[in-house]
Amino acid sequence: MTSSRALLAGAAALLVVAHVAAQQGPGPGPGPGPGGPGPGGPPPMLPDLTVAERQAFMVGVRAFNRVYTTADGLGPVFNDDACAPCHPAGGASNRLVTRFGRNTTEGFDPLGHFGGSLVQERGIGAITTADRTHDFRGEIVPAEANVVARRRSQSLLGLGFVDAVPDETWLSIAEQEAAADPSTAGRVQLMFDPNTGGTRVGKFGWKAQVPTLRAFAADAMLNEMGITSPGFRDEVCPQGDCLALGFNPTPALNDDGRDGSAMTDFMTMLGPPLRGVVSEEAVAGELLFEQIGCASCHRPAIQTGPHAIRALDRAVFRPYSDFLLHDMGNLGDGIAQGIASGREMRTAPLWGLRLLNRYLHDGSAQTLDEAIRRHGGQSRAARDRFGALNESERAALLAFLGSL
Ligand code: HEC
Ligand code: HEC
Repeated sequence: MTSSRALLAGAAALLVVAHVAAQQGPGPGPGPGPGGPGPGGPPPMLPDLTVAERQAFMVGVRAFNRVYTTADGLGPVFNDDACAPCHPAGGASNRLVTRFGRNTTEGFDPLGHFGGSLVQERGIGAITTADRTHDFRGEIVPAEANVVARRRSQSLLGLGFVDAVPDETWLSIAEQEAAADPSTAGRVQLMFDPNTGGTRVGKFGWKAQVPTLRAFAADAMLNEMGITSPGFRDEVCPQGDCLALGFNPTPALNDDGRDGSAMTDFMTMLGPPLRGVVSEEAVAGELLFEQIGCASCHRPAIQTGPHAIRALDRAVFRPYSDFLLHDMGNLGDGIAQGIASGREMRTAPLWGLRLLNRYLHDGSAQTLDEAIRRHGGQSRAARDRFGALNESERAALLAFLGSL
């Protein structure tokens, strides 16, 4: 990146900070506590919501916190009985889920017939029908797997903005990146949208494997809790054994779509993480962040399209991500999903970084410095430029990240 472009980008970034700060107003409460689940306060809400929108948000909070029981359709295999334990107050947590698969000469096999790629680690236990009993146990990684990955629970704060960006914008961001520097450019994850039956850009999840918040709500209900809903009608086969579903105590559709919609409303109106104190050092650090090429993937600002909710309508937000797939070399988690190869990961948004205490998809980095040094593949050059900074420059860059 040339220095004049870096400066321009820096100036634009400062203007946008002022814009978003003005948008946020005093409204949203504190975000979740660092890392793991804690008291953390109520989930923050977007500013300027109408009375009806606030009511819909509150209905959504209840659905998001709802604890499902076996009678409600929980399981037969699942990871937890509510959304909230993994996303306390809508935020991130250090809770990990496990994925597995097998690399073969023909490519990646998610081992669906063994219950892959996602492990549901709990089961609802023994179920007795007229003549027989079946014990639903949590899934395990089968011996056939030669790839095992752990993924951290992401923050949901501000995702309404990401959901409100038109597909053309993502395509155009990918084009801009390819024109600027093919060696660091990201790829758009194009996929089937279960809700519309059309093709959409995937933005959500560590592999950008889900196109919309609506689809993620239904997907997470099924895959994390075992709650079926329209669009996701088939239960997960425990460890791949679909015959075991003959013992499913709640074979009828578990959610008629209402909880899924309420959770979607909740996520759509969940406020963005609030920026911390921006010191002079942090301002200098942001310029370095642009100059050494971090911002080519961790894109400072994106604009939404037209939206019925005022705060999301053609609004500029600051996620520090392009939400595209990048080849990260050995940092990739080895799991292929959609068009994403095992080496590719979605650029992690950096807003809300100060609310985390573990970094990277598997939470394996305990410091920001370590997270940056683990960057590889397309991000290697930027990583090396970070490594070449002097001590005060490095401190400034870390102060900037610590303010997000
Ligand atoms: C057992 C823990 C767990 C539960 C329960 C859970 N999630 Fe998640 N969530 C995760 C993990 C792990 C990821 C990252 C998934 C991936 O990319 O593979 C994630 C990612 C997400 C994302 C994408 C965030 C982003 O930045 O793209 C959304 C949206 C989401 N979850 C919503 C929900 C909703 C709604 C529920 C309840 C229906 C829920 N989750 C239940 C662990 C959980
Ligand atoms: C080629 C694209 C690319 C470039 C360039 C890049 N990153 Fe990243 N960054 C990513 C991706 C993708 C991830 C998610 C990796 C993972 O966890 O698997 C990530 C993750 C991170 C994380 C961890 C976030 C979290 O939630 O755990 C931090 C911090 C970070 N990057 C900072 C930087 C800094 C600082 C630079 C510049 C030195 C930089 N990145 C350059 C793509 C990039």
